[in-house]
Amino acid sequence: MTADDIRLARVRTFQPRRGRVSDRHEDALARLLPVYGVDETFEPEAAFGRSAPLVLEIGSGMGTATAEMAAADPDRDYLAVEVHPPGIANLLWLVAEGGLRNVRVFDGDALDLARTTLAPSSLSAVHVYFPDPWPKPRHHKRRIIAPEHVALLRSRLAPGGAFHCATDWAEYAARMLTVLSADPELVNTSEGFTPRPAHRPVTKFERRGVAAGREIFDLVFRRVE
Ligand SMILES: C[S@@+](CC[C@H](N)C(=O)[O-])C[C@H]1O[C@@H](n2cnc3c(N)ncnc32)[C@H](O)[C@@H]1O
Repeated sequence: MTADDIRLARVRTFQPRRGRVSDRHEDALARLLPVYGVDETFEPEAAFGRSAPLVLEIGSGMGTATAEMAAADPDRDYLAVEVHPPGIANLLWLVAEGGLRNVRVFDGDALDLARTTLAPSSLSAVHVYFPDPWPKPRHHKRRIIAPEHVALLRSRLAPGGAFHCATDWAEYAARMLTVLSADPELVNTSEGFTPRPAHRPVTKFERRGVAAGREIFDLVFRRVE
């Protein structure tokens, strides 16, 4: 790690959350994390037992959208990354219930995983759906869609791979458009924002945003070939 990496690694993009994990979630974590969980030694072929395009889902939340997408897309593998134990537990439960063979879960910071473990050009897509908006200006440094994070994640995408973000926070959406457009190796697949692609299910946080009357913004960029 360079000195810059260490400085950036200290600013976390998530809220440390405590609170009780329910018995059902405790049970899912104990039983299923050893089956579907991966750690910093993650290696795609070993983890999935095959060589297939790999999708990185950052901040999978309660995992409902991840499980739905993975079930509809069996030819690709999904690596879901989350730090919120109830969300991790819920996704593990959905994966086991649905008999999904193409999902693995990392409990930790996706940016650390990208820095230390994911190989350059190894991803077919990066999904960042409804990331924490960190609306206060003094918290903007915590936003995951920032030039240095985008450069890191884009470097892990294979040429032609998709960088797909969605948000219900208009000011953050405008910032995402600026940051992604400024990356020298990303090209927008649309003029500005794009309608929600059919493969992206409506997520829990999206529903909350819609219920609060907010507009939804999708952005799909591709790494240059
Ligand atoms: C607002 S929620 C959205 C969850 C889900 N994508 C949805 O749309 O319902 C954002 C999630 O991203 C997670 N998160 C934020 N930064 C992360 C990081 N660096 N690595 C892993 N998860 C992260 C948070 O814990 C949180 O659960």
